[in-house]
Amino acid sequence: MSAQVLSGKTMSESLRLEIASRVTALKERGLTPGLAVILVGNDPASEIYVRNKGNGCTEVGMYSRTINMPAETTQEELEAAIEELNADSAIHGILVQLPLPKHLDEQAALAKILPEKDVDGFHLINAGHMLTGTEGVVACTPRGALHMIKSTGVNLSGKEAVVIGRSNIVGKPMAMLLLKENCTVAMCHSRTQNLAEHTRRADILVAAVGKAGFVTADMVKPGAIVIDVGINRVDGKVKGDVDYDAVKEVAGWITPVPGGVGKMTITMLLMNTVEAAERMLK
Ligand code: GUN
Repeated sequence: MSAQVLSGKTMSESLRLEIASRVTALKERGLTPGLAVILVGNDPASEIYVRNKGNGCTEVGMYSRTINMPAETTQEELEAAIEELNADSAIHGILVQLPLPKHLDEQAALAKILPEKDVDGFHLINAGHMLTGTEGVVACTPRGALHMIKSTGVNLSGKEAVVIGRSNIVGKPMAMLLLKENCTVAMCHSRTQNLAEHTRRADILVAAVGKAGFVTADMVKPGAIVIDVGINRVDGKVKGDVDYDAVKEVAGWITPVPGGVGKMTITMLLMNTVEAAERMLK
């Protein structure tokens, strides 16, 4: 039996309708939610992501501002731009597009963003909330992935979850969210021995590796929920970390690439921004 496809496109459509109506309600109270995205340099993939974020804002009626800074921007200049946005009452969410050029200190820059405007959830305060399971801003990709996992209706409590990849952006927060859902979580990575032995136990398998087609059908438990976070460019096409055609014959549910988690990441960024704006009125 072929897996059910979890469409990020379909899920995003209904979530974005909800976000748009919350934006309208805020506007009626005199507040237009605003998102600022800082892009340093001209990495072509980052330029596409940033454009998509701006388009997402327009779609739901939010204000968006993109700050393009040259590749040779200094740490001081970047941090000054962040401070300016922290003080700007038209801006409720600030995002510094990653990766930054090598000479810049990513963690130091992220630490400058006001935690309440940190719609990426990357500030140490929000990372700490994630670790302790307390209320804070949840990183967009794991938040979107969890929404897709929950949409299956499967009771997650006590299930085996395996996350491949241990990045601060996806792997670590994803593992924390699944732990909060009472899953038994294993985090696998490039040094993991006998990877397939872990992945074959997974009722929920999240691939955030950055290698096209890395997860093959023999690594997947029949009926599993398979979430593909990978966005890899191969011969001009976008491919996920999962060998989609083969794995969909084994899995119970699967996310496509494109049209899966990537779409949900931007939707959750919009959700985090509208929530940040709503907090201003509380
Ligand atoms: N680069 C790749 N993914 C992300 C993300 O979710 N947020 C930011 N700021 N940069 C990214």
